Amino acid sequence: MSLRDALRIPASVITDEAVYRDRRRLLAAFAAAPALAMAGCAEAEPPPPPPRAVIDPALARKGYRTTETLTRFEDATTYNNFYEFGTDKGDPARAARTLRTSPWTVAVGGHCAKPGKFALTDLIKGLTPEERVYRLRCVEGWSMVIPWMGVPLGDVLKRFEPTSKAKYVAFTTLADPGQMPGIAYRSIDWPYREGLRIDEAMHPLSLLATGMYGKTTLPQQNGAPLRLVVPWKYGFKSIKSIIAITFVEKMPVTSWNDLQPSEYGFFSNVNPAVDHPRWSQKTERRIAGTQSKLFADRIPTRPFNGYGDQVAGLYAGMDLRRWF
Ligand code: MTE
Repeated sequence: MSLRDALRIPASVITDEAVYRDRRRLLAAFAAAPALAMAGCAEAEPPPPPPRAVIDPALARKGYRTTETLTRFEDATTYNNFYEFGTDKGDPARAARTLRTSPWTVAVGGHCAKPGKFALTDLIKGLTPEERVYRLRCVEGWSMVIPWMGVPLGDVLKRFEPTSKAKYVAFTTLADPGQMPGIAYRSIDWPYREGLRIDEAMHPLSLLATGMYGKTTLPQQNGAPLRLVVPWKYGFKSIKSIIAITFVEKMPVTSWNDLQPSEYGFFSNVNPAVDHPRWSQKTERRIAGTQSKLFADRIPTRPFNGYGDQVAGLYAGMDLRRWF
């Protein structure tokens, strides 16, 4: 079996990966618990994040906010997919400290009137970061609820005046082996690439995130200093640490689709009616609140990850079986 094959998402990560990986830690914790309790120093569980019971109905209608329980910051920043830093969920939090996020430039090019290389600050200058609380549904079958800070992708793209030939937008992640140890393994044909159809990119829900949990910067493992968040699509579309944005006429090559086209489509809208060839997509393990990552409840997955009211119109007339 080639390394590429070996590193494709194994069935074990879909439901039980966390269980098998954390078994040792869990056993150690069980073993230590009585002793700690007897010693009177059992640690109390941290309090749940503050409830977000009241939200502006207009923001809720747009899909910008949800009252669902937030994922804990500790979970959102230690259980990550960022293959440039390794393929285990805990690798990015450990290894991404080597990622230098400043200075950071983004090359914008292709079919637009105003291409160029821009410092990140110039790219988003004049746009006020807004908070968006989105569900993030990974194709592996887990989900989180994350408060992002960011600017609408469409507002940024318009600045470069895309021409009528700009039918798609392609995004590229930094691929620097000096900063990213995972690049040494050809799990993906680096650099990591993603893409959206131009109308998807211009949709107000598409966000360029620059921060999370009220902070103005992102942790490296979450895609600092600039990542995409497309909440109605499987998480792999939300490309991290972007260094290039290109307006193109043809559907661009995207990393997971290139790696395994029968399992990862270009559109990859969250769709419980279309199973992944190796597992069901009907439910998801929601990692939120104080629930353990290991034993989080499974909840039903919703079409378009619950953003159908906002985005279903983008796909009118499309064959639903081809969503994947
Ligand atoms: N972007 C890059 N460059 N490399 C990656 O490996 N993983 C994707 C996506 N963006 C990935 C990436 C996947 S599979 C998911 S589910 C999300 O990032 C996870 O984002 P999070 O770690 O912030 O939760």
